[in-house]
This record gives sequence, C-alpha cells and structure tokens, in this order.
Amino acid sequence: MKRLLFSLILTLLLTACGDATATTAVSGTPEPLQACNANAGDAPTGKALFEQDVLTYYGGCITCHTTQAAVTLQGPSLQNIATIANSRVAGQSNADYLCQSILQPNAYLVEGFEANQMPPYYANWLSQQELDDIVAYLLTLD
Ligand code: HEC
Repeated sequence: MKRLLFSLILTLLLTACGDATATTAVSGTPEPLQACNANAGDAPTGKALFEQDVLTYYGGCITCHTTQAAVTLQGPSLQNIATIANSRVAGQSNADYLCQSILQPNAYLVEGFEANQMPPYYANWLSQQELDDIVAYLLTLD
C-alpha cells in the first residue's frame, strides 16, 4: 500500500512538472499564425529568440542557420537576408518573404536546399509577438 501511494504521488508530481514545462516552453496560439507585422516586432528580442537552441519544443533557428557568409549548416546562411529577401519572389517585400519563410517554409525553396528540411510548426507554436520579433530581427540583417 505504501508503495502504491508512493508511485501515485510520484505520478502526480511528474504530471505537474510536465505541465509546468509545457507552459513555460510554449507560448503558441490555438490557430496557426497567418501573417506578420514586423513594425510591431522588437529586433533585440527577436535576436535572442533566434539564438535559442530550443525554440518552442524543437531546435531553434540557430541550430540550422548562421548569420555568417561562409558557414552553411542545414539551412542557408542568413547573412544579408534582409536585402536578399527583397529579390526572392517578384512582388513580395522582404518583410512578407521572411514572414512566409517561417510560416510556410516550402512556399519558396532556396536553390540547393530541399523541401521539408525547415520545420513547418513555427506557425503553430510561436506567438504572434515572437514571430514579429524574429522578423524584425531578420530585417536588421542587411
Ligand atoms: C532544421 C533546420 C532548420 C531550422 C530549425 C530552421 N530553418 Fe530556416 N531553413 C532551413 C532550410 C533547409 C532552408 C532552405 C529550404 C527552404 O527554403 O525551405 C531554410 C530557409 C529559411 C529562410 C529563407 C532563406 C533565404 O535565403 O531565402 C529563412 C528566412 C529562414 N529559413 C529562417 C528561419 C528562422 C527564422 C528559423 C527559426 C524560427 C528557422 N529558419 C529555423 C532549415 C531550418
């Protein structure tokens, strides 16, 4: 009986801890994000988010992207991405391109890279503010 009680308490404790982690790690929205408002974003906060090893539940941007020219990880270097983003898709502003790159990574594939490499879940797990902060930061990389 003692043992049963112990394992019951342990289970309760673990459940409680699990919930605590979930609420601190994720600030996502119930509906997938659709758009960005980079003007509402804070670039320094976006830089800090970009550099997190874990963003939402998974590997963060920095695990696949550098901002240095000569260093290509799993994804392309994002050096000068604010400028490059202006000419990626005809008629799309750099802010809109960067926003779409995060929300729908397969919408435009960078030459030399394959589809489904960049995770598609940021639209579900980032908050609107976090997304806007990250785009505001990418727009400083010109
Ligand atoms: C698991 C690796 C991985 C992670 C994590 C990742 N990306 Fe990517 N990303 C890629 C790959 C691969 C590409 C190229 C293929 C494509 O365009 O989808 C890419 C493309 C991009 C592009 C387009 C670059 C260009 O030159 O046009 C942007 C912008 C971008 N990612 C930003 C981000 C941001 C911001 C995050 C974090 C919120 C992030 N990525 C997380 C792998 C990743």
